[in-house]
Amino acid sequence: MALVGTKKMFEMAYKGGYAIGAFNVNNMEITQGIINAIAEEKAPLILQISRGARKYASMSYLRGIIDVAVAENPDIPIAMHLDHGDTFEICKQCVDDGFTSVMIDASKLPFDENVKVTREVVKYAHDHEVVVEAELGQLGGIEEDVVGVSSDDISKHLTDPAQAEEFVEKTGCDSLAIACGTSHGAYKFKTEPKLAFDVIEDVSKRLPGFPLVMHGSSSVLKEFKDLINKYGGDMPDAMGVPEDAISRAAKMAVCKVNIDTDLRMALTAKIRQVFVESPAEFDPRKYLGPGREAIRNMVKHKLHVLDCAGKASECL
Ligand code: G3H
Ligand code: 13P
Ligand code: ZN
Repeated sequence: MALVGTKKMFEMAYKGGYAIGAFNVNNMEITQGIINAIAEEKAPLILQISRGARKYASMSYLRGIIDVAVAENPDIPIAMHLDHGDTFEICKQCVDDGFTSVMIDASKLPFDENVKVTREVVKYAHDHEVVVEAELGQLGGIEEDVVGVSSDDISKHLTDPAQAEEFVEKTGCDSLAIACGTSHGAYKFKTEPKLAFDVIEDVSKRLPGFPLVMHGSSSVLKEFKDLINKYGGDMPDAMGVPEDAISRAAKMAVCKVNIDTDLRMALTAKIRQVFVESPAEFDPRKYLGPGREAIRNMVKHKLHVLDCAGKASECL
């Protein structure tokens, strides 16, 4: 089966009260770890590529890896999605490159400008049968190419539900990333966070049946934080979104949950462990292999948190 869009996945996820995992890919081992998990759990999948990933690995290599994953898993619906495209031009490039879904993240712009660029992307993407995720409101946290508000300000930049309704009507986007208290990266919060479920609830009442997206949804798992710190790392203050909060959002209108940091930490933890326990090791397969295996196990677990395990066939 060829790459698919997200329309059917979101329709089924909305009706079934679950969410699709959207995992960021940057190289072969990360992709294989994710694919091995979804193949075992028979879950629908969104593989997402950031601008940073395009720069790091090059689109042709990432596309080659994803094409193999799709060919080897004909019973699994897999979408290839641009994560945090910030201009019309990058979104157009990805549509032309064969992505089945693109995100235009113009959330830093004033409302009217966000509407304008999102509409342009929607027009071009829909003309090419590609779906569009847009964003309204601002998340916290910082990654390579995605800079948000400071962690103290997260609650001041939540999505305004009335604006969300107007935004979706004016842009015609297919899904909307909302700011509901999550944050990108490993240092999301200083204390146990409370997500704004009231915002999710309010937006979904105004836009019945419309799929919402939750970015910054890594949980910063203790297992990997502890391994990283035990084997020479320095991430003592890392803190993420509790998994029970993710499960609760997945039962609501949130149909796509973005996870990158948990993949990075799983891979890093295992590489650090091998380097410290076997300092003479210099075969990359001996440290990337355990990293890939840790990603597989972690993603398998996440698919149950999102409750999308076993849902591949209904999303085809
Ligand atoms: O939300 C952003 C993603 O985690 C991608 O991060 O721009 O460092 O690749 P990146
Ligand atoms: P995390 O940093 O929480 O993994 O979020 C990833 C993300 O939102 C990608 O768009
Ligand atoms: Zn994001």
